[in-house]
Amino acid sequence: MNILTWYGHATLGLETGGYRLLIDPFFHGNPAAALSPDQVAADYILVTHGHGDHVGDTVQIALRTGATVISNAEISGWMGIQGIEKRHAQHIGGGYRHPFGYLKLTMALHGSALPDGSNGGNPVGFLLTTSDSKKIYIAGDTGLFGDMRLIGEEGIDLAILPIGDNYTMGPDDALRAVKMLSPRHVIPIHYSTWDVINQNPQDWSARVTRETDSQVHILKPGEDFSF
Ligand code: NI
Ligand code: MN
Repeated sequence: MNILTWYGHATLGLETGGYRLLIDPFFHGNPAAALSPDQVAADYILVTHGHGDHVGDTVQIALRTGATVISNAEISGWMGIQGIEKRHAQHIGGGYRHPFGYLKLTMALHGSALPDGSNGGNPVGFLLTTSDSKKIYIAGDTGLFGDMRLIGEEGIDLAILPIGDNYTMGPDDALRAVKMLSPRHVIPIHYSTWDVINQNPQDWSARVTRETDSQVHILKPGEDFSF
C-alpha cells in the first residue's frame, strides 16, 4: 500500500514500505499549501531541482527531522554546505536501492539554479519502484520530451505530471506525455499556484479520459491517493 499526498504546487508526500518521503517540500510561501514546514515528518526528502519552489523548506525540515536528502550531486553538495549531513547524491540514469525502494533519476528539460544563485546541476525527475513493485514517475518541472516513451516502457502505475504551462508542460503537452507514458493513474500538479500557471484540471482530465486509458485523479491540497 502506498499513500501519495499532494500538498499543493509540486509538493508531495509518499508513504511507502513504512517510510515517509517528501518530494520538493515547498510549504513556506506556497499559496496552495495548508501545512507549515514545522508540522511535517520525513525520513527522506527528494529534490528535483534547485528552484525555490522545489528546494523550498528542505534545509529546515531536514535539520529538524534528520531526514536524508536525495538529489543530484550538485544540489547534494549545496545541502552539505547548508549543514545537512545525511545526503545521498545520484545522477540522471542512475538508480540506487534505498530502504524505501529502487530510485532512478530521469532527465528533465528545465533549469536548476539554487536560491542563492549556486549551480544546481541538471534538473531531474524520479522513477521509483516501491517495495511492493509499483512504479511511480514524478516528472519534475519539465517540458515534453520524446524519451518519455522509454520511461513508459518500464510500465508506470502512477505518473505525476506538471500541467501549468509557462514554466513547464501545459495541458496539451501533458496529454501527449500521458500518451507516451501510458500510466495506469495520473495526477496533475504544478498548476494554479499563481495566475501565470492557472489551468482547469477538470478540462484536462476530460481530455485524458477521452483520448487515453489512463485514470486521472485531481487532488485538492492535502488530499491523498492510495494505491
Ligand atoms: Ni522550476
Ligand atoms: Mn517549479
